[in-house]
This record gives sequence, structure tokens and C-alpha cells, in this order.
Amino acid sequence: MPLDRKATPNDLNAFWMPFTANRQFKKAPRMFVAARDMHYTTSDGRQVLDGTAGLWCCNAGHCRPRITEAIQRQAAELDYAPAFQMGHPVAFELANRLIEIAPKGIDHVFYTNSGSESVETALKLAIAYHRARGDGARTRLIGRERGYHGVNFGGISVGGIVNNRKVFGTLLGGVDHLPHTHLPAVNAFSRGQPEHGANLADELERIVALHGAETIAAVIVEPVAGSTGVILPPKGYLEKLRAITRKHGILLIFDEVITGFGRLGAPFAAQYFNVLPDMMTTAKGLTNGVIPMGAVLTTAEVHDAFMTGPDHMIELFHGYTYSGNPIASAAGIATLETYREEALFERAAAIAPYWEEALHALKGLPHVIDIRNMGLIGAVELEPIAGEPTRRAFNAFLAAFDKGILIRTTGDIIAMSPPLIVTKPQIDELIGTLAGVLKTLA
Ligand SMILES: Cc1ncc(COP(=O)(O)O)c(C=O)c1O
Repeated sequence: MPLDRKATPNDLNAFWMPFTANRQFKKAPRMFVAARDMHYTTSDGRQVLDGTAGLWCCNAGHCRPRITEAIQRQAAELDYAPAFQMGHPVAFELANRLIEIAPKGIDHVFYTNSGSESVETALKLAIAYHRARGDGARTRLIGRERGYHGVNFGGISVGGIVNNRKVFGTLLGGVDHLPHTHLPAVNAFSRGQPEHGANLADELERIVALHGAETIAAVIVEPVAGSTGVILPPKGYLEKLRAITRKHGILLIFDEVITGFGRLGAPFAAQYFNVLPDMMTTAKGLTNGVIPMGAVLTTAEVHDAFMTGPDHMIELFHGYTYSGNPIASAAGIATLETYREEALFERAAAIAPYWEEALHALKGLPHVIDIRNMGLIGAVELEPIAGEPTRRAFNAFLAAFDKGILIRTTGDIIAMSPPLIVTKPQIDELIGTLAGVLKTLA
């Protein structure tokens, strides 16, 4: 029987929705029932322009035939193969293709099922790497204020979003944080990389002096922080972090869960900024968001440190039942082929200046206190309503949805990250509709 696309569930109670105002949502549900290319279809039959690539993940747009067909084919041929002590060709093929587009010097792929798992994997790898080299005192992990590294214990410990941490107990020990780089007083309305703030990377020297380099395993940062409301790295900042970590034998992990797969107009942020980390965490755009999959990409140096001892012995006691799942791997290959055939990373780079212009035209509209952009990422920061933080942006989100565009909000920041297939008229529609919303916002 064909799916009744108009049907809405009669009881919304059982599903406890993630990162959602459940009670508000269930009073006035917002449901998508279909999607194609740049648009969602709502349960009441409206078309909504996707200004966020789902959750920063559908970089090639929605329901792309090549990906759908690859999943269908793989599901019918080899649905699952044990991930431990057994293999299947598709996961190996995807790993090779990932390495092809990764920065030179990144040579190995460890599969996970999400960004959060990629982060946990990378943090564990960092600690175990030093131990494997006889440097077992290096156990500390350094994150950054306002960082988002998913929701597992390691990720929220190195992360720096207060609401994601404060009700979950004592978290991991041995963690410290760099200051964030959001400096609106000096950088507001910057286009692309802000001028000021590279010196904030020097705080790592202070942290090293405090704890001793010989106790620090890794520094993890998002090259461009997305989920906290789009915070950009000041010019020279990432280069400094790389230099300081290298000087002290500390691994540098780039969390590329949103910056990976073309968001900045290059395969990864590491290439965009020309800064090579020791590990990169990925997910989301790896399968165009269609099937859960993540991957940690590492240098040979990290990988090879584990390849010691008798060769019948497991080298790393870590992995997931679904690591390199055949259907996810097939989706990954089809996704990378779609990116390549349609030159979507190049397309994102080519349209980014138009995006920047359109976005910055919102300057001067009511409540707008900052606008930030990079690649196909944009943020509009609003002055919060006094005593009611987050309400103004959330109202903007609801009004935008009513007017047919999907945006995201964090605090009082509106974030946008359209699929890389977005056209100029669609950028005009997205930004024009948002302008209309901002004008009517209380
Ligand atoms: C930088 C970063 N790391 C990790 C994650 C977590 O990914 P997931 O929700 O797939 O666990 C996200 C999700 O937005 C992210 O932006």
C-alpha cells in the first residue's frame, strides 16, 4: 500500500524528541513528509526551501537518485557483514575514496556511526596513541569554550556549550578549554575570516605551562564552529594552534563534522585553511545525511603507532557493530560520486561570494547585531529580548517556517547552511524571506 503522505500520527507522546522543545512542538507539530533537491514537503502539502541542508548534512540536496539507488542495490545484495574480524569490499572502497579527497598526509579511516562517535573515537585514539609510543602520561584533552563535539561524555567534556554540559555530572576529568574566538566588539560584520583574535591561540601556551606538555594528549577544535552559532577562526588562529601543538608533541584534531564535504568550498576545512591536523572527525555529509555514518581520518603516524606486537592480536580495542556497514558504505560512495560528478565543492566555492553579498545585505534590519559568513555558511546574530534569551530567534525560526524557509537557531543566532546545489534565485528567496521575517519580528 502506498504511504499516505498526508497522514500525521494520532499520538505524539511516545517519541521523546532530541534537542527539541517537546511540549511546544507537540502542541503545534512541524512535520516533513517528503523531500527533493532543495525542498521539503510538509504534512499539509507546503514546499519549504531547505536553508540548512537538513542538519548541516544533506550537502547534495535531497533524495538524490544515485544515492537512493546505491542503498537499494546494496540492501538487496549484502545487507550486513560483521564489522569485527570480517570485511566486505564496499567499506574498503569508500575508505580509499575518502583518502583521495582528504588532505595529503591523511591516510587512514576508522568508521563510526555519527559525529559524536567520531569524536569519542578520536579522543580515545589520541590517548591510546601516546600510550602506544610509551608516552602514557599524555591523557589530558583540550577543547574550547562554545565548542560542539556531539553529545557523548568525551564530546561534552571537551565541548563548551553550557546547556549541553551542566546537568550531566562531573564529565571527564583532565580536560581544559581554550577561549572561544567570538569577538563581536572588534569583529562584528566581518566578511569571511575575522581580522582579530589570532592571539587567542596563544592561550594554549598558558594551558601547556599550567599542566605540562607531557600530560596533554590532544587539542580538539572545530575549524569553523557551527552548532554554537557559527564562530569563525580569526586569520592566523588555526595556523598558530598547529604550530603550538606541534611544538609540544600534542595531537591536533579538527572536528570536521560540518565543515567536511564541501561546506567551505573545499573537501575539508583542513584544505581550505591549509592546516593539516593529525586527525579529522567526520559524519553528516559523508552519506549526504541519508544513512548514519561517521569516520575518523588519521595520519599514517597515528595509525602506525598501533601496528605493533604479534600480528594475530587486535591492535585497537575499539569499534562499533555498524562500523563500515555495507549500506552506509554504499551510500558514502554514491555520495562522493555525486559530489564529484556535479562538482559540488567547486560549485560551493563559486557561489560563496554571492551568498556573502546576499547575507550581508541584512545589515541594518531590526535586531541584527552581527552577520558572519564563510563558504556556504551564514549566521545572523540578533539582539536578545531582555530577560528572554533565545525567544527572538526561535520566533524567527517559527515565522520563517510558516513563510516557507527552513533556518536553524542557536541561542539568538540564526544559522544557515543550504545544500551545495543552491541556486542564486534560491539564495535570493531564502535571504529575502528572512529579511521579511526580521522586519516583522517583535
Ligand atoms: C562539529 C560537530 N561535531 C560533532 C557533532 C555531532 O554529530 P552527531 O549529531 O552525528 O552525533 C556535530 C553535530 O552537529 C557537530 O557539528
